[in-house]
Amino acid sequence: MRDPVRDRETVGSALSDAAVVLRAAGLSDARREALRIWDDLGGDTVRFHGAIARRAEGEPLPYVTGLSGFRHLTLRADRRALIPRPETEGLVDLVLRRACTGCIADVGTGSGCIALSLAQEGGYTSVLAIDRSAPALELARENARGQGISIQSVRADLTTALAARSLDALVSNPPYLTSREYHELDAGVRAWEPMEALDAGLEGMDVIVPLLQDGLRVLRPGGWLALELDARRARECARRAAASGWEDVSIQPDLFGRDRYLLARRSITP
Ligand SMILES: C[S@@+](CC[C@H](N)C(=O)[O-])C[C@H]1O[C@@H](n2cnc3c(N)ncnc32)[C@H](O)[C@@H]1O
Repeated sequence: MRDPVRDRETVGSALSDAAVVLRAAGLSDARREALRIWDDLGGDTVRFHGAIARRAEGEPLPYVTGLSGFRHLTLRADRRALIPRPETEGLVDLVLRRACTGCIADVGTGSGCIALSLAQEGGYTSVLAIDRSAPALELARENARGQGISIQSVRADLTTALAARSLDALVSNPPYLTSREYHELDAGVRAWEPMEALDAGLEGMDVIVPLLQDGLRVLRPGGWLALELDARRARECARRAAASGWEDVSIQPDLFGRDRYLLARRSITP
């Protein structure tokens, strides 16, 4: 028969040992991380030891536990796609406030976090999740199945798979760092997360510029474009959007008060 007092002591010492390992690896919040890993792995001792070793090697916490929270969802996370970031949750709010019905597409869906949240929280007839990366799209499909949320997923480059005037909103958190900024990122991000999710070429605009150009083709009159951006290029993106013919162009702040999103509308007149 199991002895609950002994079990508690065993868990307590496993957590303390793990916290020592994580602290020695330079993690400041070692005890809390150990507890979080323990909880996320359901108290499986064998997996717990392996996970602590991976975390001590610098692997990001969501990849170690295989779980990442985004809005109301707990998604599967692994190296096939970028770890969803808290600031991206705000992009979903902006879209829901402007276009919460009809047909939408999420370009560069990664784990599927944006598309799945929109499908869960909005009243859309169709949500299309697009990515060029086959492994990322596979993860998005697993997340859709795991959550029991229905979306369509398509492997394609940018908006090339979309018909003219087929969407009410086009959403994207694209790669938006310059190659130089990418190489200056924290080594932990570069070592573990996919480069194609972050590096957008010499000017950081390799994906945003085509979205600004072709977005006008795929949206219906009055349809919305919502992009996540780097604050350093927000004004430049807004300038380019207005020059490309977008209307109601605005830059919106994220939860940290940084210029983070671009909103723009296709003219209502056809
Ligand atoms: C910054 S990540 C965003 C992932 C996810 N939407 C999120 O917010 O966490 C950008 C995604 O765009 C995808 N991507 C990059 N270039 C692309 C392209 N030309 N066409 C389609 N997807 C692309 C990458 O594979 C990556 O999954």
